[in-house]
Amino acid sequence: MSQDVSSLAVIGAGTMGSGITLVAATSGIDAIQIDVSSDQLDRAKSYHAKVLARNVEKGRMTESDRDAALARISYVDDMAKAASADWAVEAATENPEVKEKIFASMASTFSADTVLATNTSSISITRIATATGNAADRVVGMHFFNPVPVMKLVEVIKGLATSDQTVERTIALAERMGKTPILANDRAGFVSNRVLMPMINEAFFAWMEGVAEPAAIDDIMTLGCNFPMGPLRLADFIGLDVCHDIMMVLYRELGDQKFFPCPLLRQLVTAGRLGDKTGHGVFEH
Ligand code: 3HC
Repeated sequence: MSQDVSSLAVIGAGTMGSGITLVAATSGIDAIQIDVSSDQLDRAKSYHAKVLARNVEKGRMTESDRDAALARISYVDDMAKAASADWAVEAATENPEVKEKIFASMASTFSADTVLATNTSSISITRIATATGNAADRVVGMHFFNPVPVMKLVEVIKGLATSDQTVERTIALAERMGKTPILANDRAGFVSNRVLMPMINEAFFAWMEGVAEPAAIDDIMTLGCNFPMGPLRLADFIGLDVCHDIMMVLYRELGDQKFFPCPLLRQLVTAGRLGDKTGHGVFEH
């Protein structure tokens, strides 16, 4: 396995995928942004231009560095067009069946040296790796945080068959992308979402039981615990559907009632109030 990453394919141009692409490009890596939706690719392109323009405006980057970063990004609608990439990160929908299908095609599309990383927030790396047949040693969790250009952490997750070499290379790549990698083992929700999501879920219970209004719950946590956003605002930011789905993974995999999503969270998701992305979640945006 060669050690240097010169090109990185990012599967999925949503919030997380477009953030990963941008950080790769600003770290000197050729980034291939893949999505079947041309609308999604257009949104990613505008996002990249906007954040880079802001970096220039704030004096964090020169205009020529911005142009070089933009020139490093290509946008394609088919994974086959990125087949020569020496690293691939999947950031598609948080659904195990979808991820299994994507990883089966990643294993047949990319070369036998390519690391196949997933940005899953809670799904078992071992399960995803199994879908690749004999490439499981090259499958690893590379969990970025939203907004990717701002958040420092990459949670690196080793599946049952992930090789030590794959883990070492993932740590090296995360550091090259300016992130702090921290290792976690392959249990539902890893560390981040196992701790974060029940806290968010509990904030919904506090609201449902009338302990306080949503704005007060958030103010208590921002002013009293120094959170940058309160748990309910953060839930809107992450997406109530995503929070709900992660709770369900924790509940099913760990088998403990304490992980069952709050009925009020379930109800908001059923009503299509998903947070920032739909303009209305706990709060109106
Ligand atoms: N992309 C790039 N840069 C962004 C950005 C984005 N989407 N959003 C904000 N920024 C930048 C802004 O440009 C600004 O930088 P600048 O003014 O120097 O240019 C800086 O971040 C601060 O932004 P703002 O002044 O607009 O607002 P805040 O100071 O309130 O910060 C925040 C915004 C960084 C989002 C902050 O509120 C925060 O840290 N919130 C908590 C985020 C968090 O917990 N994320 C983890 C979610 S869990 C997760 O991702 C895991 C998953 O599995 C669920």
